[in-house]
Amino acid sequence: MPEIYLDNSATTKVRQEVVAAMVEAFQKNYGNPSSAHRRGQAAEQELKKARAAVAQVLAAGPEEICFTSGGTESNNLAIFGLARARVRQGRHLITTQAEHPSVLEAFRRLEREGFNVTYLPVDEEGMVVLHELERALSPETILVSTMHVNNEMGAVAPLEAIKAILDSAKPRPAWHIDAVQGFARLPLVPHRLGVDLVSLSGHKLQGPKGVGALFVRRGLRLEAQLVGGGQEAGLRSGTENVPGIIGLGVAARLMWAQHTEAMAHMGKLKSRLRERVQAEIPDTYANGPQDERGAAHILNLSFLGIRGEVLLHALEEKGVYVSTGSACSAHGASVSHVLEAMNLAPSRCEGALRFSFVPTNTEEEIDYTVECLKEIVPELRLYTRRR
Ligand SMILES: Cc1ncc(COP(=O)(O)O)c(C=O)c1O
Repeated sequence: MPEIYLDNSATTKVRQEVVAAMVEAFQKNYGNPSSAHRRGQAAEQELKKARAAVAQVLAAGPEEICFTSGGTESNNLAIFGLARARVRQGRHLITTQAEHPSVLEAFRRLEREGFNVTYLPVDEEGMVVLHELERALSPETILVSTMHVNNEMGAVAPLEAIKAILDSAKPRPAWHIDAVQGFARLPLVPHRLGVDLVSLSGHKLQGPKGVGALFVRRGLRLEAQLVGGGQEAGLRSGTENVPGIIGLGVAARLMWAQHTEAMAHMGKLKSRLRERVQAEIPDTYANGPQDERGAAHILNLSFLGIRGEVLLHALEEKGVYVSTGSACSAHGASVSHVLEAMNLAPSRCEGALRFSFVPTNTEEEIDYTVECLKEIVPELRLYTRRR
């Protein structure tokens, strides 16, 4: 049976070049970067290279990159760090209903600490409703947090339009972008957009798990959330995950070097999968924008009359790995909060599956997946109707 991995928004398989660099780090660069001797200095040099590689993708300075344990920690550091540093300037925060839980839960905790949070709605394609952002901003607003690429259905945030709205706010609030799904695949230049904080994660880029980074615009004040030895310019104490950071640096460099061709290739895979499914299997819908406002590496499809998780496991039996999207809703049913925020019909939410790609996925894999779906979907529909 083939193994076809189309769940790359959940995590990716680490590239061979990354594994090789990490093995070398474990074996040779085992020093503590804070140590004064040669072993320590060698490890520090490797961190420097990785910092430069990550910074280059964002056209930022290396001193603006703070390594963390991943996207969740980067989002937590950005949101808690900024809110707690600016609490005297205001207590109003803005984010959207379609964010990742590592953003939403951080805001919910801040609400319990006495901040007011506006959760902006999204439209039926998952795009943030911009006039609501304009309406929500007030002189009390200290932070706006919007994701770059939505992890469930691929909507790409209209960053230029958000910039224009924030530019007219007085005072301009800090702007955080959760770029975990877009980093090194779509260009993002924080200094050009006036973005203050950008989160990214290694394991979405064919790099290692448990490592990520936060871009922190130079001069921005954040309250550290981990205190101790003062590593990462005092923003994130703890001995650095040297092999992980080296792996992140290599993964970022390689992904960025090929991003134009890679996105074009994945865009073709996405169109092929969507077009074939919609033409060859009745009662199927694509969720999220299907034009240039949708990222090339994420496709969310609904198969009416079937529960997503049942289809997921049936595909798994054929060697195809996909995802239903996100965690459970309050009702206990596994319905995505993002699709719910888009106001999609319950049957469309329940029957949703996410297919997500890396540049090494092939047309043959897509065709095999379509053939599996053509076989499984009618069977499951028949079975569901009979019950
Ligand atoms: C948009 C987004 N933000 C944050 C995260 C969390 O990243 P990590 O798994 O590195 O903590 C994810 C991971 O699924 C994500 O998709």
